[in-house]
Amino acid sequence: MNDDQPPENGETMFDKLIDRKGSGSAKWDGAPVIFGEADILPMWVADMDFEVAKPITEAIIERAKHPIYGYETESDSLKQAVVDRLQAKFNWRVEKQWLVFSTGVVHALHMIIMAFTKPGDGVIVQPPVYYPFFSAIGHNGCSVIENQLVIRNGAYAMDFEGLNNAFRPDFSGLRPEPSRARMLLLCSPHNPVGRVWRKEELAEAAGIVIDNNAFIISDEIHGELLFGSHQHIPTATLGEEVARHTITCFAPSKTFNLAGLNASVMIIPNPKLRNVFRERTAGFLANPCPFGMAAMEAAFRHGDPWLKDLLDYLQGNLQFLKEFIAARIPAIQVMPIEGTYLVWLDCRGMGMDDRQLRAFMRKKAKVGLDDGFIFGSGGSGFQRINIACPRSRLEEGLLRIEAAVAEDQG
Ligand SMILES: Cc1ncc(COP(=O)(O)O)c(C=O)c1O
Repeated sequence: MNDDQPPENGETMFDKLIDRKGSGSAKWDGAPVIFGEADILPMWVADMDFEVAKPITEAIIERAKHPIYGYETESDSLKQAVVDRLQAKFNWRVEKQWLVFSTGVVHALHMIIMAFTKPGDGVIVQPPVYYPFFSAIGHNGCSVIENQLVIRNGAYAMDFEGLNNAFRPDFSGLRPEPSRARMLLLCSPHNPVGRVWRKEELAEAAGIVIDNNAFIISDEIHGELLFGSHQHIPTATLGEEVARHTITCFAPSKTFNLAGLNASVMIIPNPKLRNVFRERTAGFLANPCPFGMAAMEAAFRHGDPWLKDLLDYLQGNLQFLKEFIAARIPAIQVMPIEGTYLVWLDCRGMGMDDRQLRAFMRKKAKVGLDDGFIFGSGGSGFQRINIACPRSRLEEGLLRIEAAVAEDQG
């Protein structure tokens, strides 16, 4: 347990039920509108119902004490904190000049695609995948090329043959058209299926992309949210050649629950890519706000004791969810999960189509989950549940689903 917050009655700070209603929370205050139900229990968007680590709050308060909130530039000390973090966590030695700060990762993805594509180009994604990937591609006039993940022996895997094929000329028209695939938008660890890609998997995917003269955007926002002994490997650590072909997006926002502060960082080791990126995004790219920068630095420098407790707690929640569902809602299968706090539920055994499943969860069970089909191909029949909440709240959500299933069957 974190030194700052001694446990009471065996409980931890993560058991504390914090009322977020009325705080402007998208997850809570937005839920009745999004789900169309007043008494919905929100277990959807990826933020946590836990208070953040004390050193982060203190850093924000400290920054707020300075009474001027003008345009902010990244300090050397913030850059050093990022460099140190990547070294300590992933043994990744990056240089300060490789860092490009941005507000959110989604914003960064839009900017990267804008900078390196022309309308009509293709961007490869591996669905089911974090759905804002699709709009980042579409809003830039590019087409989404889907290389769907496959389920092998009960676990998700990348389809390397499919990835290769995504770069092949298209013979479907009158004449062969060269492939317009320019980049792979990789989700690592993968939201929503919870895979933490192994080194060999990443190397194979990267090899295919490089052989085809394309590059990788590696969204590693979940890279510190790992279960058990799983290790996150940043794509760019696979070697110099891969690093030259990779733009990595990283942030403290998922790990430390800071999404509202809009602070992220790209790592672009290749100076050519970095210069082009800076040139083409001038005027679009924005720095995080002063509080976002202060929070990022504090999280990276002082957040580890809290993070350790968080990961223990999430592991407990995962175990609780698995046992509950196996014993009491057998029509749902919990897909194996290695990282993130977003659990992918296989609801195909419930015998409903997507419309029925959505109505069932919202209207009968009154839980606000993310529908699987919004994550693209392969998502149909699945639901995504966010387990980053006090265990009693997780239990309430599961009890609601169990009761709705019983009512349905009775
Ligand atoms: C893979 C992935 N990328 C990006 C984001 C959002 O990042 P940001 O809030 O920094 O835009 C999320 C949020 O869930 C995510 O899962």
